[in-house]
Amino acid sequence: MKPVILVLGGVSPALKERLSESFEAVFYNDLEQPAAYLEQEGGRFSGLFTNAGVAAPDEIVDQLPNLQVISSIGVGFEKFNQDKLQPRKIRLSCTPDVLTDCVADLAMALVLDCGRRLSAGDRYVRAGHWGQQPFALGRQVSHKTLGILGMGRIGLAIAKRAEAFNMTVVYHNRQQRTDCAYEYKDSVASLAQAADYLVVAVTGGPATENLVDAKALEALGPDGYLINISRGTVVDEPALVTALQRGTIAGAGLDVYVHEPQVPDALKSLENVVLLPHIGSATQETRQAMANLAFDNLQHFYAQGEVLTPVPWAVYDD
Ligand code: NDP
Ligand code: DGY
Repeated sequence: MKPVILVLGGVSPALKERLSESFEAVFYNDLEQPAAYLEQEGGRFSGLFTNAGVAAPDEIVDQLPNLQVISSIGVGFEKFNQDKLQPRKIRLSCTPDVLTDCVADLAMALVLDCGRRLSAGDRYVRAGHWGQQPFALGRQVSHKTLGILGMGRIGLAIAKRAEAFNMTVVYHNRQQRTDCAYEYKDSVASLAQAADYLVVAVTGGPATENLVDAKALEALGPDGYLINISRGTVVDEPALVTALQRGTIAGAGLDVYVHEPQVPDALKSLENVVLLPHIGSATQETRQAMANLAFDNLQHFYAQGEVLTPVPWAVYDD
């Protein structure tokens, strides 16, 4: 008998086929009346396959009384309800490491785009302004100071890239790392103060909400750029809009927003911000690797009783 799993969110045809080969997989998006279906059949499911954006909504988890394992594509797990999953000892895995390089590449791309005005230059050429009006000078990237808020897996990979640009790297975490020599700053404001480019790479969720607030933006200053590849909630979005409008920071590069896929019109109307649609891990190679790891997590659970890459709070003794 194949394990019965519910699949949330969109999956590629190839992944759909693969899941259907190994599991009795039911695809939530294909159900005509999902709530009514789960009321009847919810007890049959022991596994849930999902992603960091969709996570596992409470009302669905409540309809799966025999749920044992959730495998999520993506490394962020702030949307999963710890209070609901932990008492039931539901295993939860995510996909760390395999996406680190691509997300770090994108962070550096945003640093370069902000400083060297790549997107602005592209708009200028397409608009036929070349030869008609001057193009404002950008700012140097190499030899500048890169501040990293969240020196974790992705933060470290960004630091490595910055070294190749002869940048000075400084960082802030709750805990100073003992395994790297980059200068540690003991607050977000002191990190921002030191940085020419402040890159946000922390974990999302309530604990980091508005960690980059008006005070931190003020400390970053009129020559500083904010890059956010973490989660929109980490930055006080209205304060960021104000800082960009008033020029109290030089610019920003954003891959993430508070209410995705909605991006505030105020941001869209500004020239000094680069806006991306949450594509940190969005390459064919990395998305394949993430899907593979999420698949392997489920398979490993059904073979050995544990997932390969659990989220830290979803590890149990029994
Ligand atoms: P890690 O867990 O390896 O790193 C997170 C870092 O954040 C740690 O160094 C941690 O250090 C630090 N941190 C956590 N809470 C705080 C806090 N309150 N104040 C200061 N520092 C804090 O995660 P990854 O590097 O793998 O991923 C980081 C995040 O990037 C993900 O959680 C996700 O939200 C985002 N992401 C975005 C993607 C995109 O497409 N844009 C793609 C993939 C990830 P310490 O515990 O010492 O504080
Ligand atoms: C992640 O892996 O957490 C990315 O942000 C995709 O949601």
